Amino acid sequence: MSRAVVYDTFGGPEVLELREVPQPHAGPGEVRVRVAALGLNPMDWILTSMPEVAAQFGITLPSGFGTDFAGVVDEVGEGISGFAVGDRVYGGALGRAAADSAVVDPSTDSLLHTPAGISDEVAGTLSVAGLTASAVLEAAEVKAGDTVLIGGAAGGVGVLVVQLAKLAGARVIGTASEGTFDFLRQLGADPVTYGPGLEDRVRAMAPDGVSAASDLFGTETAEAALGLGVPAQRISTIAAGPNPPGGVRATGGFNARPEDLGRIADAVAAGEITVPIAATYPIDRLREAVELQAQRHAHGKIVVTL
Ligand SMILES: NC(=O)c1ccc[n+]([C@@H]2O[C@H](COP(=O)([O-])OP(=O)(O)OC[C@H]3O[C@@H](n4cnc5c(N)ncnc54)[C@H](OP(=O)(O)O)[C@@H]3O)[C@@H](O)[C@H]2O)c1
Repeated sequence: MSRAVVYDTFGGPEVLELREVPQPHAGPGEVRVRVAALGLNPMDWILTSMPEVAAQFGITLPSGFGTDFAGVVDEVGEGISGFAVGDRVYGGALGRAAADSAVVDPSTDSLLHTPAGISDEVAGTLSVAGLTASAVLEAAEVKAGDTVLIGGAAGGVGVLVVQLAKLAGARVIGTASEGTFDFLRQLGADPVTYGPGLEDRVRAMAPDGVSAASDLFGTETAEAALGLGVPAQRISTIAAGPNPPGGVRATGGFNARPEDLGRIADAVAAGEITVPIAATYPIDRLREAVELQAQRHAHGKIVVTL
């Protein structure tokens, strides 16, 4: 037997139960990972609480929980090459990460080798946020010399977007609440409060203009960027719903290439960027971790360990 988080009905964190389940095995073309840590994303509890979204992702009840993970390969199925028992790995497997054993298909899930020098706690946060950050910056065509406005800059995706934009040679202005300003400054961003008047505040901070923008929280930043004269094709969004404003570019992790994620992990290993961990919880306190994530004021990532 091994443990897995399972839910039988849709709802809040209270539906998540840590249960003893039969030990799963890697079938042909699959790899079994002994999970050591998983990072939370808003999508995890959105899938748990919104049946209509879960249906879009093919999730049926009872379901497992969690996507991002890191750990060690402890079984490989027939036909697997490139992964062996004992390899440290990380990646993303929708609805399967919160378990002692996650069975992963490298042809459809994300599965990469963990670079030396990165802990499981950090590697286990990288898949969704890393792929998404990469897609966000590519869609906004961020490059050296840009002044980039990032909405929701201190969140799990934002901390990577900010640092990768800085690494690319851009100036970054990031939205946050005032209590988050020092945190954002440490990442290299110039902080600005979100909320009414954003456009004017950013205009005062960047009199020579803003050249690109990424909205990681609703549509406020995308709308401010349009008002500041940023061309719609240089504004990317990941959280605007089906109708982003003014022709801006909706994107997401699904648009990134697997090698983009590997490059981000290498940048972490090289110390070029960091992954701030807001809080770490043991798996038997998963519900608290989910509650904290769902408040939407985390600075960086929330991690759960097994
Ligand atoms: N399309 C995709 O592939 C994809 C992938 C990943 C995520 N997403 C979506 O992208 C969004 C961001 O994900 P995440 O993991 O970065 O979320 P997160 O970690 O929960 O974001 C938390 C951050 O949001 C900030 N925030 C709170 N209220 C805000 C507001 N009104 N305006 C601007 N920022 C605000 C907070 O800053 P303060 O603490 O300073 O308030 C906090 O730092 C979510 O909606 C998620 O579902 C989409």
